Amino acid sequence: MSDIVANIQKLKKERNAVILVHNYQLPEVQDIADFTGDSLGLSIEASKTNADVIVFCGVHFMAETAKILSPQKTVLIPEPNAGCPMADMITREQLLQLKKEHPKAKVICYVNTSAEVKAECDYCCTSANAIEMLENAFDEDDEILFVPDKYLASYAASKTNRNVIIWQGYCPTHVRILPEYIQELRKLHPESKVMVHPECSGPVIQIADQVLSTSGMLRYAKESSAKEFIVGTEVEMVYPLSKENPDKIFYPATDLAVCPNMKKTTLEKVEISLKNIVHEIILPQEIIERAKKPIDNMIKFKKNAQATKK
Ligand code: 13P
Ligand code: SF4
Repeated sequence: MSDIVANIQKLKKERNAVILVHNYQLPEVQDIADFTGDSLGLSIEASKTNADVIVFCGVHFMAETAKILSPQKTVLIPEPNAGCPMADMITREQLLQLKKEHPKAKVICYVNTSAEVKAECDYCCTSANAIEMLENAFDEDDEILFVPDKYLASYAASKTNRNVIIWQGYCPTHVRILPEYIQELRKLHPESKVMVHPECSGPVIQIADQVLSTSGMLRYAKESSAKEFIVGTEVEMVYPLSKENPDKIFYPATDLAVCPNMKKTTLEKVEISLKNIVHEIILPQEIIERAKKPIDNMIKFKKNAQATKK
């Protein structure tokens, strides 16, 4: 074990901390996790632990979600500038304006939103349960505002008969995955299964065998009899997939699909974060209470969010 990893383990015990790591983080950061998983699965797991401190290795909205679900705990994000550009594509003010234009509509937000935006919504969803949420939480004649991801919203709406008004946000990392990259790889590996994240564009989703959240990809890879997979999401996803399935081969759809914000967290920053108890997520009590409502309304229906104990 390297000195830095040993020191992180020591500090973790002293602080009674738990380290949560998203599937897109650098491999060396994934290796020190107590739990790895998808954004919501990790936050739910964190709320169940007895730890006093949560170190969230991911992006800002994920650490905020952990704070909303565990307001009495100290939630730290080792790199405070690790944001999610998609989450930043809708502000509270923009959402309030949209609601004004559609006064009867109900609002569902992707978990990739700020706490301030969540506070103005009725329901939350993740990439794992967007279809299920549209079907279960709304009626056919409801007017539904879905923010901010246009690709997740279009995909989920196409699988239901719900009336969805779609905000035009997107993930700059997932739009770098093009259908031609997948078609080329398919020619080279004709036996492979193609699994893509619902943040990918419509043409990519159309040619995929499976459209899955990151936790869904881990489950599918394990259960499938296929031996090779083309993976249409952030490149680092092949690391947990390969680690959990050493007998199978995973090809990233393209090496261009890198989320730079996910790469900002390093072991050194995790060590500093635990040593100095920085950078703490602080949210006004009122926002915590109001942002919890859409998340609770989702957890009632939740089946698929997932985190894995390491
Ligand atoms: P998951 O919830 O599927 O892990 O996705 C989070 C994310 O930011 C994908 O880009
Ligand atoms: Fe946000 Fe896209 Fe990065 Fe996920 S991959 S955190 S949606 S920018």
